[in-house]
Amino acid sequence: MTLSDYLAQADALGADCRALLDGLDPATRLDVAKGQLNACKDERLAALQDALRSLPAADRRPAGVAFNTLKQAIQAALDAFSARQAAASTGGAFDGTMPARSSWRGAVHPVSLVLDEISDIFRELGFTVALGPEAETEWYNFGALNFPPDHPAMELHDTLYLGEDTLLRTHTSPVQVRTMQRHAPPIRVLAPGQVYRRDFFDATHAPAFMQLEGLAVDEGISFVDLKATLAEFARRFYGATRRVRFGPSYFPFVEPGAQMDVEVDLGDGRGLRWVEILGCGMVHPNVLEAAGLDSERYTGWAFGMGPARIAMSRYGITDIRMLYDSDVRFLEQFAR
Ligand code: DAH
Repeated sequence: MTLSDYLAQADALGADCRALLDGLDPATRLDVAKGQLNACKDERLAALQDALRSLPAADRRPAGVAFNTLKQAIQAALDAFSARQAAASTGGAFDGTMPARSSWRGAVHPVSLVLDEISDIFRELGFTVALGPEAETEWYNFGALNFPPDHPAMELHDTLYLGEDTLLRTHTSPVQVRTMQRHAPPIRVLAPGQVYRRDFFDATHAPAFMQLEGLAVDEGISFVDLKATLAEFARRFYGATRRVRFGPSYFPFVEPGAQMDVEVDLGDGRGLRWVEILGCGMVHPNVLEAAGLDSERYTGWAFGMGPARIAMSRYGITDIRMLYDSDVRFLEQFAR
């Protein structure tokens, strides 16, 4: 074969491949198009590759260049075919009868669900919402709440300090003091908010979590008001058939201090059992005085609870970390 024969055959093969692909209907499947292309080119391309070796040495180089150009041209023709195919299919695939994809409407986080529900109940009982800062002073977080100066809760390994006198609040109880400073009794407030502790993040602890504080202060408020209000809350939240009980507990800012347990079914097959829901008590006179109220004239009661724990018991969530993972497969189960 002469060089000019070789170049002519390479040109012809390129032209045939292009003509074949350009002539195909763009609806042709890609594998079918490739089959037809191979049938047209494989043998002729192999023959051209073999012929390279039998050409005179001086002709091999220009022939080799032509061979490579031919392979690129075939690939380019195939690419052009798939581009034509793609352009045609976007228009052609429209199906007006196909049902619309339902869109993700979002869902309220289970802790927020519980928080909203509890707030609704207390709103009906006359409570409004009060907020306080998450970066607190030692005085509001501890001192004004009757913690002695050497209380272990203030240790560096329990509390996250931001500076000499500022820390991330370890509970929402400082909002009690801020509220009493700002508003004269009668006071009935609910204070939800994020609190922080130097805890490990495991199945039952999180270093940042929600708390919900309640405070009622007026003349003549007694432990009866505390029990009646909190029992009424439990009745509405858990249902009228659930029993509640109060037991003694200790917190420096209440006297006496108590905890409320509710008999709940955690859905783990073990049936009804007592679960501690909140800490509570009569506001300590030292706290009233620290906030500037006359403790001879006013009395009050307070409570604090963790909505995450309550959400876990209500929805049968066994690992607190699921509440922080933002895993849509978990969260969308709570979509209403
Ligand atoms: N502040 C307490 C805590 O973080 C919870 C608490 C207990 C709040 C008793 C109260 C209360 O208002 O009366 O563990």
